[in-house]
Amino acid sequence: MIQVLDKSFEVFITKEELSKEIATLGDQISKDYKDGDLVFLSVLNGAFMFTSDLMKNITIDCEVSFVKMSSYSGVESKGKVDELIGLNGDLSGRDIVIVEDIVDSGLTIDKIISLLETSNAASVKVCTLLYKPDAFTGQKRPDYVGFSIPNAFVVGYGLDYDQKGRNLDMIYQVREQKKPNKDMLNIVLFGPPGAGKGTQSERLRDKYGLVHISTGDVFRALDSESELGKLAKSYSDHGNLVPDEITIKILESEVSKHPEAKGVIYDGFPRTTAQAEALDKFLAAKGTEVSMMLSLVVAEDELKTRLIARAEVSGRKDDADPKIIQNRINTYNNSTAPVADFYKSQGKLSQINGVGTIDDISDRLYSAINSAE
Ligand code: IMP
Repeated sequence: MIQVLDKSFEVFITKEELSKEIATLGDQISKDYKDGDLVFLSVLNGAFMFTSDLMKNITIDCEVSFVKMSSYSGVESKGKVDELIGLNGDLSGRDIVIVEDIVDSGLTIDKIISLLETSNAASVKVCTLLYKPDAFTGQKRPDYVGFSIPNAFVVGYGLDYDQKGRNLDMIYQVREQKKPNKDMLNIVLFGPPGAGKGTQSERLRDKYGLVHISTGDVFRALDSESELGKLAKSYSDHGNLVPDEITIKILESEVSKHPEAKGVIYDGFPRTTAQAEALDKFLAAKGTEVSMMLSLVVAEDELKTRLIARAEVSGRKDDADPKIIQNRINTYNNSTAPVADFYKSQGKLSQINGVGTIDDISDRLYSAINSAE
């Protein structure tokens, strides 16, 4: 695989395939014009390499002239072409073979042919190395074709991508990037400990038919005797973050358990910018992306009151001890809060007031989701 500017390309036609096919074209043209008066009109810039190799395989007398039309500046045909430059010498009574690197829409060839109408040439034919039949909308189909190829952008062997890549000695095809699946609803539910992420996640899960993955729950459910379980517990019991590489591995394995999910609520993940980057990469490989981050905003005093009250019901060790609570809030402010900036820079952050009744907060979340869809 190679990179030309912002795009990746993979080998499409090798050097060996090119020389074999060009030799065949040369033989054919040499036979067809053995009694003719052959002039090649090579269309610059793209056809220079092809013309050079084609000429080496022509075994009859011939001439070559280089002409120039406007060329591409992006990956799609402009659909309009300029004047033909460099056309000199008398072509009347002569047999013209226009040499193109590629016939795509066919507009360039049609224009050249119409400009040659007044030349009184004996015949005009077209030889192209590459032909995209699916993109062709022109009048004149090429007479000699090296390779008929699908309608995908190619580069190399004279063909360019924004003027780069002409020097490559074989043909490369653009590598299609998977487009994110916008139908999947992947929500990062964010907020400090005690903000109500767990409660609201369950509601979002039920309303939108999503899978709820809470890394905290996953850690707590890990077998406390397993190595991973012991390791995760040694961090989370003290209000510290479980290291990124462990968290990412666990998260990926949880997500992979739900291949048919319509979407996922990530609760308690990502907790660091490194985890957010890992999640982006992981989802991109699956052809999807984070749809939005919903960040529940709750003042610190309110958080502490909620956590102490929750400890009475849940028995969670990390909720009962004010020192551990403070450590969790500090960790959130120092390591986790910057994750919001990560999503903000992608235009995916919605701040939601996390104070009020559970129903009020749910309604705020629903309307943020619905207005983003
Ligand atoms: P047309 O659409 O047949 O008129 O092609 C015009 C020109 O577009 C060609 O001579 C090439 O310079 C350029 N072109 C068309 N398809 C590609 C491609 O896949 N890669 C690079 N250039 C292309």
